[in-house]
Amino acid sequence: MPQTIDLLLCGAGQLVTCRGSEKGPKRGRNLSDPGIVFDGAIAVSGGAVVLAGARAKVERGIGGADVSRTIDAGGRVVLPGWVDPHTHAVFSRYRADEYEARIRGEGYLEIERRGGGIRRTVREVREMDEERLFEVSRRRLAKMLESGTTTIEIKSGYGLDIEAELKMLRVIARLGRETPLDVVATFMGAHQRPPEFDDEKAYLRVVIDEMIPAVARKKLAEFIDVFCEKGVFGVEETREILEAGRSAGFGLKVHADEITPMGGAELAARMGAISAEHLTKISPAGIRALAESDTIAVLLPSTTFALGSRDFAPAREMIERGVAVAIATDFNPGSSPSCSMPLAIAIACSQMRMTPAEAINAATINAAYAVGRGAEAGSLEKGKKADFVVYDVEDYREIPSRAGADHAITVVKNGAIVRERPAFETASEVGF
Ligand code: NIG
Ligand code: FE
Repeated sequence: MPQTIDLLLCGAGQLVTCRGSEKGPKRGRNLSDPGIVFDGAIAVSGGAVVLAGARAKVERGIGGADVSRTIDAGGRVVLPGWVDPHTHAVFSRYRADEYEARIRGEGYLEIERRGGGIRRTVREVREMDEERLFEVSRRRLAKMLESGTTTIEIKSGYGLDIEAELKMLRVIARLGRETPLDVVATFMGAHQRPPEFDDEKAYLRVVIDEMIPAVARKKLAEFIDVFCEKGVFGVEETREILEAGRSAGFGLKVHADEITPMGGAELAARMGAISAEHLTKISPAGIRALAESDTIAVLLPSTTFALGSRDFAPAREMIERGVAVAIATDFNPGSSPSCSMPLAIAIACSQMRMTPAEAINAATINAAYAVGRGAEAGSLEKGKKADFVVYDVEDYREIPSRAGADHAITVVKNGAIVRERPAFETASEVGF
């Protein structure tokens, strides 16, 4: 036990640890265990959890150590910081007009065809000065941190030429250095074919022969992702790009079976990808393939919601068949402009019929495994990063059921308080 405890949190009515009985992402019945400790406490030293559990046990454990600072959660709910394992958070500006156009009946692909959608953001990102792109993205991450997100994956893919892709990746790396969040970088040059290429194969060669080696040489990404979709990159092309990515040392991710069931999930499982993402149109064979593999299904309920669609990924079926499921926001300027993990969880519960416990595990521990951070984030246990959030609610199920209001009052990242909002006695219902 260290001699000094930098931070002691006590008075957690429910300490939702998201701990599991085994290592690895939670599946099946384990996914419904939130690992709750009533009247819980967390002792932090050097940015890491030294003890998390029942208050009496933690107090006994730290013995006579000096405590520099104490937070009393006052009976509120304390959770691990959210891990958002799929975002496109580096971009120019939101495309709110397309949101309205979709409500009026225009399709996602129609919008793309008339020059909107991803390609519009690509035009803007290419023109945007790197400093400005960093600053606008930094502000978005600050907002995410306020709502309790402490680890985030960010994909490139709005550059689609070597200079602009590298610019995005440098911005992503800088966000990791200059914000409190942990940032995981994914290279997604294969997000779309850029407008200047008529020939699909020619762009594929640029991604494989020029971009992948440059990104690897500069060590600007940990993962590679491909949008495997009709009219974008087919299964064979996706395989070729992922193969090249693997040889260059990247972990693999796939945007799979989003609009068309293409066999993207099967490909991800076969290639040992860390995750297959979207999956709204996954086939029964795809579900089986994921269940039998270590590939995590990253589900994006906020996207279906913002697109005004009813096509939610078949989460229940996946969970019942043993797929390891995670939840992310897919935060991007068009198809999912919400950066809120609590909102994503709320939609997962009401529309995909995940229980609150399943959704919370999916957004913390399983999400951490989906970005290769399972050993250090996503649950409150000894040795992991001290990333946690105090929510001004009495029961963890209020997080999805009362979504829409900002309930996070204290956010701690690496043991440092990064958000502290007074819980006005007159506003808090906890303990009333
Ligand atoms: O994950 N599916 C492909 N790409 C993004 C869309 C990004 C955008 O609309 O700008 C997604 O939803
Ligand atoms: Fe995406």
